[in-house]
Parts: sequence; structure tokens; C-alpha cells
Amino acid sequence: MAGVEDDRGLAKSVSAVYQERYPRPSITPAENQRLSQNQPTKPFLEVLSGRRQPVPPIWMMRQAGRYLPEYREVRAKAGGFLDLCFTPEFAAEVTLQPIRRFNFDAAIIFSDILVIPYALGREVRFEVGEGPRLEPLDTPEKVETLARRADFGKLEPVYEALRRVRRELDPKIALIGFCGAPWTVATYMVAGQGTPDQAPARMMAYRHPEAFAKIIDVLVENSIQYLLSQLAAGADVLQIFDTWAGVLPPREFARWSVEPTKAIVEGVRAKAPGAKIIGFPRGAGALLPGYVETTGVDAVSIDWAAEPSLIRERVQNRVAVQGNLDPLALIAGGAALDSAVDDVLANYARGRLIFNLGHGIQPETPIAHVERMLKRVRAYRG
Ligand code: CP3
Repeated sequence: MAGVEDDRGLAKSVSAVYQERYPRPSITPAENQRLSQNQPTKPFLEVLSGRRQPVPPIWMMRQAGRYLPEYREVRAKAGGFLDLCFTPEFAAEVTLQPIRRFNFDAAIIFSDILVIPYALGREVRFEVGEGPRLEPLDTPEKVETLARRADFGKLEPVYEALRRVRRELDPKIALIGFCGAPWTVATYMVAGQGTPDQAPARMMAYRHPEAFAKIIDVLVENSIQYLLSQLAAGADVLQIFDTWAGVLPPREFARWSVEPTKAIVEGVRAKAPGAKIIGFPRGAGALLPGYVETTGVDAVSIDWAAEPSLIRERVQNRVAVQGNLDPLALIAGGAALDSAVDDVLANYARGRLIFNLGHGIQPETPIAHVERMLKRVRAYRG
């Protein structure tokens, strides 16, 4: 440690000298207790701040969802999927359901990545059993009609849901806000629906790069604003979901996934300097080290196909890693699940790890299997 010479020529730590010169005002034991109760450590945030935890914190992507009967009940009461997202009482309730059941280390606000196109005035519907439907934005002429600024009033219910969850959440549990990465959101906006290989957006990026860049720029600017408002409403951490990053060749990946994500990270940190951000460029594989280096994220969520030594040596040496159990192993259960859990721990728990799935939990997953996974992860002492 750096030292300075005191009068007797002995080395003293800088912090000791600092404390002598600028003594902290004394606080009473009662005040101290009140402060420490107000700000208990969140294991999840500790990992993001560079401090590995002996038992890795755990949560699951899509942890509020159809595999839970209590979710299906609220979902039926709410009516449409967007009604569920935009009714703070319901959104807060389903956010807290998996926490009550499993005591995860993080809650993720219940919403969707497509609320941004919705706030941009695009038509967005969720057809039962079919997924999202939007008005396709697949020509430069249509892109001319795209609003530059979202109507953030439409997203006010999301902020209100965050405030409600914040009030009810155990202070040891982190609250995650999120948005979709511009590339992934654009794949839905261009095609008007989910597509197997995101061909419509890939084609548009090749044929009309300027028009496509306009969509991306609009998404970057509005996502920054949206994430900052989520922080102001009580989110501790932000995650940027780039579910379809893996379909892009390296040059396109750099342009449409990495650069916009970097712009969002910088834009958020310009106003909220300490903001903690997790990136999830699903399927990025060998492009992950470059993604981490360029974007400046604090952690990266990895899918189940990630190569362990590449991740340990070139990703986890820089940032925390989140993942990466195969959601199908969670459906399978039994010995297959146990060994899949053990693999994640053996591969990554010696470094900074947040235990998670490699992608969202599927609706047919038995709850007993989630409990089995949790028990095994929480029995780990590394
Ligand atoms: O993780 C959580 O618990 C928070 C909620 C959350 C949802 N969507 C709720 C949801 C989050 C973080 C998302 C992100 C999201 N939405 C992504 C990126 C992450 C990922 O899983 O890949 C994407 C690509 C979307 C877009 C989207 N929303 C699709 C393709 C679908 C239909 C597919 C499906 O699973 O039905 C949705 C609907 C959706 N979003 C549901 C939930 C729980 C299911 C709708 C329902 O309950 O009827």
C-alpha cells in the first residue's frame, strides 16, 4: 500500500493520515445501526463491484412467467400482456412472485423490450401463443415516419412499478431494470414479428444502412433516457438484452450490436457515473472478449454454448460473468440437472459469478427443478 512518512519517519498508510487530518464526525451506535440497516450489502452488487461471493448470487432470466401458477393467475386478470406490463399493481406483483417463492438475489422489473417501440408510437400487440406483432418498418420511406423521441409518459407505469417493488423488496435483494439492445429491438421492428434468423433486419442493414442506422440511433437515444428513468425510480442495476446478437457476422456485430451498446453505456454513465450495467449479447461466442472491452459493461451474461476457458481467461478476468445453465437441463431435472449445475460452478464459481440460465426459463419447467437447482447452488462454498 502507498505510504507517507510521518514525523518519526515511519510509514503510515494514506488512509490513516487522511483520517487524522479529516476525522469523520462521530455517530451514535443507534445511528450507525440505522445506517447499516438502510444500506445492507447486496451480494449481487458486490459481484458487479468486483468482489466475488463464496456462494454465487442467483436469479433467472424470465423468472416471472408462465411456469408459475401465480403468474398465470395475475396474467388472466390483467387481460392483455401489455395491460399486465402497464398496470403497476400487477407488474409489481408478478415481479415479486419469484422472490417470495425462491428468495432470489435479484428481482427484474416485469416489462418487455418492446415497450420502447410502443412508446415511439409503433403499433405493438402480443398475440396469444404467437408472440409479438408490430407494424413492419421495412423500407427507408417507412423509416422516415419514425418518431425521434418516445412518449415517455406511456412508460410512467413501469417507473411506478419499480417504485412499488423497491418499497417492498428486502434491501439485500437487487432490483434490475432493463431494455433491449437496439439491434434486437430493431429485428422485431423491421420484421414486425419474431423471425427464425432475423433475415429482414439483416437484409435491411445491408441494403439500406442509412435508414437502418436511423432506427438504431433512435433506439440508442431513447433507451438511454428509459434506463436513466429506471435508475431514478429505484433500479440498482441495468441489463441490456441483445438476444439476437449471435446472427451477425463480426463486422456487422461491431456496428449494430457493440457500438450501439457502447453508446448506451456511455450515455447512461454520463448522467449516472456509477451505473452498473450487464450486457447479454446472446450467441456472441468468440466475439465476447471484444464486446466486453469495447462496451464497458460491468458484467456479461453468457449463453450455455460459451467456451469455458475463453470466458475465464478473456472475459471473467475483466468483468463478472452471469449464466449459463441450459434451460433445457432445468426442464430435464434429475442427474442431468445436477451435473449441468456442477459444470457451471466448476467452470466459473472460482471467479466473479452470478448464477443464472443461459437464456430465459421455459413455461414447461417444473417448479421442483428450480428448487433443486437453488439448493445445489446455495450449498456451494468456494
Ligand atoms: O425476466 C423477467 O422475468 C422480466 C420480464 C421480461 C419479459 N420479456 C416478459 C415477457 C423480460 C426481461 C423480457 C425481455 C424480452 N422480451 C426479450 C429479451 C430476452 C429474451 O428472453 O430473449 C425479448 C426478445 C422479448 C420479446 C418478447 N416478449 C417475445 C419474443 C415474447 C413472446 C415469446 C414468449 O415467450 O411468449 C414476449 C412476451 C413475454 N415477455 C412474455 C413474458 C413473461 C410471455 C407473454 C405471456 O405471459 O403471455
